[in-house]
Amino acid sequence: MGNKVSRILVCPPDYFGIEYEINPWMRVSDATDSEKSKAQWHELARVLEEDVGTKLERMTPIKGLPDLVFTANAGVVDEGKAVPSRFRHQERQGEEAHFERWFKEQGYQVILLEPDCYFEGAGDLLGFPDAWFGGYRQRTDIKAYNVLSEIYGKQILPLELVSPQFYHLDTCFCPLSGGELMYYPAAFDTYAQATIAHRVEEHRRIIVPQAEAERFACNSVCVGKHVVLPAGCPETMAMLQDRGYTPHPVNLDQFLKSGGSAKCLTLALDQ
Ligand code: ARG
Repeated sequence: MGNKVSRILVCPPDYFGIEYEINPWMRVSDATDSEKSKAQWHELARVLEEDVGTKLERMTPIKGLPDLVFTANAGVVDEGKAVPSRFRHQERQGEEAHFERWFKEQGYQVILLEPDCYFEGAGDLLGFPDAWFGGYRQRTDIKAYNVLSEIYGKQILPLELVSPQFYHLDTCFCPLSGGELMYYPAAFDTYAQATIAHRVEEHRRIIVPQAEAERFACNSVCVGKHVVLPAGCPETMAMLQDRGYTPHPVNLDQFLKSGGSAKCLTLALDQ
């Protein structure tokens, strides 16, 4: 977990679209343009491979599973162990078997959660090497973190997400490789805000302004000193540059219509 990432799981957007509404960003009436989605996704893949130097593993897209592109929700992977997601919404539950099969084929030790224990993978579980954080309430059940903490032998600090717009932890919380945290405090309840303040020293906290949080600035992929983030977030880019990071903006507005951006479209795999 963290930023030693050099292999990333992605899934091309052949069948991406808005076919149902399970978060406030999604409007079936606000259709995506499939040519634009493909071009944006390919540019993200190009930046990750050529500019950032990661290795991408491509899953096979499946018709009828429009959100399979959001591989952050495949599950969580660390130390050779993969725990596949258990989606809260029936609309996404068809993805579970595909992600589970992919992990098995890759030789991961696959550990399954109980079917009634909702967990949406690296969309909700993020952290630094020494401290993991788990978003809960909107998608993942808090009880999943007791089990995950046993599986990985790590302490996981649960953080309650209170804003429907920021329904996964990775929409409002982004740990950086140098130990800084880029985040949007208003997405958390006061107890979670206090937990964050207690665990991450003040000089390491980078607060994203509301307008850019709403463009999913926190949904960024940090690999070493590179940060791939959605375009249209100049203040966030300036804050990153001040701290020695190289921001790589990519226009991903078609994916924002589904409530996702750069980070949601990736899953960090271990070496
Ligand atoms: N439409 C998808 C959903 O609502 C978007 C998932 C975005 N993924 C993420 N890791 N935040 O489930």
